[in-house]
Amino acid sequence: MSDSNTPILEMNAIVKDFQSTGFAKSDIFRALNGINFKIYKGRALALVGESGCGKSTCARLITKIETPTEGNILFHGQDIKEITSRKDLLNYRKNVQMIFQDPFSSLNPTHTIYHHLSRALLIHDRCANNGKKLRARIDELLTLVELPTLTADKFPHELSGGQRQRVNMAKTLAVGAELVLADEPTSMLDVSIRLGVLDTMKRMKSEHDMAFLYITHDLATAHYIAEETAVMYKGQIVEWGDTHEVINNPQHPYTKLLISAVPDPEIKFREVIEQDLDFSSHAEKVRALSGHKVNQAKQVNHNHFVRLLAG
Ligand SMILES: Nc1ncnc2c1ncn2[C@@H]1O[C@H](COP(=O)(O)OP(=O)(O)OP(=O)(O)O)[C@@H](O)[C@H]1O
Ligand SMILES: [Mg+2]
Repeated sequence: MSDSNTPILEMNAIVKDFQSTGFAKSDIFRALNGINFKIYKGRALALVGESGCGKSTCARLITKIETPTEGNILFHGQDIKEITSRKDLLNYRKNVQMIFQDPFSSLNPTHTIYHHLSRALLIHDRCANNGKKLRARIDELLTLVELPTLTADKFPHELSGGQRQRVNMAKTLAVGAELVLADEPTSMLDVSIRLGVLDTMKRMKSEHDMAFLYITHDLATAHYIAEETAVMYKGQIVEWGDTHEVINNPQHPYTKLLISAVPDPEIKFREVIEQDLDFSSHAEKVRALSGHKVNQAKQVNHNHFVRLLAG
């Protein structure tokens, strides 16, 4: 979306179809319909949209858990379809890490934090198998994510959700990931600790040049962390560009609807609603949108685009 450097990752015209699991098993459900985006070093792209619009499917395709039906995904210009050997796959998964909504899900309750971080360091050869050096590196990692070094000797259940999420961030630093796919990483955390976790992610971006795909329902946190935002609706990206632009000058009715739900005084959502007094008919219009027709994109500003409604 921005031309400032070459993208780490590129989604090109991605389509993903799933077989329906209902009565009509032969039905095909199109979960993603022509998705394009680029992610850059040291920057975050927020993927925002309602439940079921296809955000996590995008992340799963990037991790190679799923494969696209059409289109290709490029990592440093290489089609990830070509990454097939165990060695290349391990290397790719080292570079592209995932942080999940539930901070417990990726931590083994029977192991200490020291074990989790040392394993990440050793598997990916980031530290000599030397106890003292390993301990020093783990202390350093914990400090980087603003956890006390004594956290190393604790078990996951002894930590708060926010602390666990910081451990997950330390794991991505331990392996030297270039791209982090953060799927609603703060939505299960108490509001009071969300900001701290987001701040740590910001530092991972600015101090370690990591790139983020930040998946969320919430435009306020997208605004906080991501330079660029893509708004998804029913498998399509309907509006995208600089986060500031998308939030302050939303064009698509669905983006406007999302902004109206943001309880963040920094975002001028009230102005947006006041511009559009008949808000209920607005919601109707959004509901009536077809998820299957890909409409032409229109440029709103230098880095701000919208997919117009049909009719
Ligand atoms: N393996 C699968 N088989 C069939 N359908 C699937 C599969 N994975 C996802 N889907 C469907 O694809 C659509 C997009 O799902 P996805 O998990 O990407 O949504 P999401 O935007 O991440 O939602 P949420 O915000 O609730 O996490 C949903 O309708 C979902 O039911
Ligand atoms: Mg999801």
